[in-house]
Amino acid sequence: MVKQSILTLEQARWLDINNHPTPFVVYEQKWIEANMWRFYKAFDWVLNFQNYFAVKACPNPTILRILKNLWSWADCSSMWELVMSEICGLEWENIMFTSNNTHAAEFIKAHSMWAIINFDDIIHIPFYERQVWEMPEIACCRFNPGELKRGNDIIWKPTNAKYWMTREQIFEAYKMLRDKWVKRFWLHTMVASNELNPDYFIETAKILFELVKELEEKLWIIFEFVNLWGWIWIPYKPEQKEVDLERVSEWIRKEYKELIWETREKAIRIVMECGRMITGPYWQLVTKVQHVTEKYKNYVWVDASMQCLMRPALYWAYHHISVLWKENEPANQIYDVTWSLCENNDKFAIDRQLPEVKKWDYLVIHDAWAHWTAMWFNYNAKLRPAELLKTTDWEIKLIRRAENLQDYFSTVNWIDWFSI
Ligand SMILES: Cc1ncc(COP(=O)(O)O)c(C=O)c1O
Repeated sequence: MVKQSILTLEQARWLDINNHPTPFVVYEQKWIEANMWRFYKAFDWVLNFQNYFAVKACPNPTILRILKNLWSWADCSSMWELVMSEICGLEWENIMFTSNNTHAAEFIKAHSMWAIINFDDIIHIPFYERQVWEMPEIACCRFNPGELKRGNDIIWKPTNAKYWMTREQIFEAYKMLRDKWVKRFWLHTMVASNELNPDYFIETAKILFELVKELEEKLWIIFEFVNLWGWIWIPYKPEQKEVDLERVSEWIRKEYKELIWETREKAIRIVMECGRMITGPYWQLVTKVQHVTEKYKNYVWVDASMQCLMRPALYWAYHHISVLWKENEPANQIYDVTWSLCENNDKFAIDRQLPEVKKWDYLVIHDAWAHWTAMWFNYNAKLRPAELLKTTDWEIKLIRRAENLQDYFSTVNWIDWFSI
């Protein structure tokens, strides 16, 4: 599959010259909306199927607002994600608070918003009660299936993960919640990140449905919802295929019918908390070539660096790169694509086959949205780039300006240097 660029060369050039110098990132609203509908359609057999978009995947209020208009709610992990979601008009059961090692102030804030509290650790339950002085309306616990799942390179084996409760703890936790008079229960797991194998999701759903039944039978409680997972992968490489959502949905439906529908009086609702899969493919970094040089290897030096796309340096993640206007030319050259951080892993690509690249060419780095802006940093005093949105009316709107020097120095306290 050829990866399409959101902008044409003329648009990129025009933006670069008029007000938005490269690097900048651009989001495509139309594609996000189409993708969201596809996702909801695949699960249309679920009563009120809902996705709680993982805010960490793209903490931009305009994007949260667009998603809210598409009936996608928010999965928050911290105080400021809660506040951002609140500003976007999300509250009550439209917010799931899934944190770990949580500060009391965060629990208090989530409680004041009537968010669904997703407990990561059994000790958080008495902690919550002590700090907040009452229990949540809806409580959820995060299940770690231990040896039942293999995990993957990003999140490791569940038994090595710092998150979630063991099987014994899950029983203990719901008993504790029940005894503290919580009436509404959800169950959650998330055992991999960036997963492509459809069977992995189906297996996980089955494990959760079976666990719900066992918990209900042993503890005499009733579950309202299961939160199946986020972490559906996107095909970062052109030759990879998307997860077949329709197939995943069909198989989950079969498990649901057998384990829940035919054995229970009341339906259980299913929700998910996908981030990357919703928005990841529709966000691209546009950067301009400054130099092309030759050392022991060939280097393309662009004007963006790992400070605005950390994934390749962090996980050796692949991000597809295309050269605007040269998409159909043969990729017969090999380059490392880099910029100027004082780190040798400051590279978007190593030994990447590209068409011949020239100074002032525009490169597009694809599938960049997910967990990217959230990881931006200021190493070497490099500033964060602007975020642009291509709306459904084809207008390009600035939704976050680029940082400037004033932003960079805004936290510095300029003390009198002669006094030290
Ligand atoms: C609690 C939680 N939910 C959902 C997600 C979303 O994962 P993804 O963006 O891979 O769908 C994450 C990702 O780290 C997460 O930590």
